[in-house]
Amino acid sequence: MEKAPFSLTLNLLILSLLLLLLNPTPCLSKCNSHDRKVLFEIKAALGNPYLLESWQNTTDCCTWYCVECGGPDDRIIALVLLKGEINAQIPPQVGDLPYLQTLTFHKLSNLTGTFPNALSKLTRLREVTFSWNNLTGPVPPFFGPMKNLFSLDLSFNQLTGSIPPELAYAPNLSGLRLDRNRLTGPIPESFGYFQQREFYLFLSHNQLSGPIPNSLRNADFTYIDLSRNQITGDAYMLFKPSGSLQIIDLSRNMFAFDLSNVTFTPNLTSIDLNHNKITGNLPVQLTTLNLQYINVSYNRLCGQIPVGGKLQSFSIYEYFHNKCLCGSPLPECK
Ligand SMILES: *[C@@H]1O[C@H](CO)[C@@H](O)[C@H](O)[C@H]1NC(C)=O
Ligand SMILES: *[C@@H]1O[C@H](CO)[C@@H](O)[C@H](O)[C@H]1NC(C)=O
Ligand SMILES: *[C@@H]1O[C@H](CO)[C@@H](O)[C@H](O)[C@H]1NC(C)=O
Ligand SMILES: *[C@@H]1O[C@H](CO)[C@@H](O)[C@H](O)[C@H]1NC(C)=O
Ligand SMILES: *[C@@H]1O[C@H](CO)[C@@H](O)[C@H](O)[C@H]1NC(C)=O
Ligand SMILES: *[C@@H]1O[C@H](CO)[C@@H](O)[C@H](O)[C@H]1NC(C)=O
Ligand SMILES: *[C@@H]1O[C@H](CO)[C@@H](O)[C@H](O)[C@H]1NC(C)=O
Repeated sequence: MEKAPFSLTLNLLILSLLLLLLNPTPCLSKCNSHDRKVLFEIKAALGNPYLLESWQNTTDCCTWYCVECGGPDDRIIALVLLKGEINAQIPPQVGDLPYLQTLTFHKLSNLTGTFPNALSKLTRLREVTFSWNNLTGPVPPFFGPMKNLFSLDLSFNQLTGSIPPELAYAPNLSGLRLDRNRLTGPIPESFGYFQQREFYLFLSHNQLSGPIPNSLRNADFTYIDLSRNQITGDAYMLFKPSGSLQIIDLSRNMFAFDLSNVTFTPNLTSIDLNHNKITGNLPVQLTTLNLQYINVSYNRLCGQIPVGGKLQSFSIYEYFHNKCLCGSPLPECK
């Protein structure tokens, strides 16, 4: 009589252990059922690629490759698809994973089409990467109001149209890459008002044109690359005595300004100005910088290359094709 309750408990224990062993998912699964359903829709929309082989009904979706669960309710917070053969477009169902913070589609050969509007629902996004794919259409403006967005990388695609000014409204945005696309039109005036300091801005290898907006004097760029566009105007405002500027590449544009009076931040290590219409002299302050790279070739500079610092450690090819620049490493001034 006294033993009965004990053996009953024991039997129950053994039974549940057995059940657990036979079918672990129902008891242990952390996966949210809505998220699981959406992930299966995404898998189907992407044509059940090999990359998503681990997304199976029999396992907890928090254990699948390419996703991560997080938060108190174990919702899907990251969807990271790297290097796969995917013949599809971005599934709009991605917009139905409301807890996503990290979203990456990188080097997916044959990922084509445009950005679905459904992505605008993902207000928790912090890090968005759609790089090295074959995406077309415009850069969507809806990333702008996302207040958690920290990094946006849409580089190496075939995006067209002009840059939406709204992107500068993302209050936490610290890095923006739109390089290697087919974007046209000017740099938006709003890009002087990124709220974060030490900003990374890459707009190179596009077809951007028009004058560089004067508002950019308000921004604090650590790394700015505007190379290989057709941007015009006076880029003087990008050089400041204070700020965090370390690397600047303005090469192969149509910038026209006098370099003589420019002041540089002490931390500047790389300056590429080749192929522009820059006039004036090289400022003596350049000799005080710990330069790893400078290229001012193919401009309209004049006068003697200041002697000292790192300036004589570069070759003639970093200085040649100017109006009357002279002195080491170029031939002596007359
Ligand atoms: C997963 O299981 C559910 C029901 O158990 C079924 O309706 C669904 O089709 C299955 N999905 C896949 C991708 O196998
Ligand atoms: C990509 O698309 C091209 C043209 O549509 C096709 O020939 C090729 O097989 C596709 N590659 C993959 C990996 O699906
Ligand atoms: C984009 O498409 C072109 C032409 O189909 C192809 O050569 C290239 O490899 C594709 N790029 C990527 C990253 O898939
Ligand atoms: C902004 O981004 C930083 C770095 O990811 C993060 O620590 C911080 O919490 C973010 N702030 C907001 C308001 O999201
Ligand atoms: C310059 O670089 C040093 C060392 O990397 C760093 O501590 C300092 O904050 C930088 N200055 C600015 C203005 O960014
Ligand atoms: C450079 O400075 C000199 C002397 O301060 C001034 O006369 C000249 O106008 C300035 N040039 C530019 C382009 O600002
Ligand atoms: C500097 O730019 C010129 C012109 O594009 C190029 O020929 C040269 O190789 C560049 N120098 C370096 C070190 O990249």
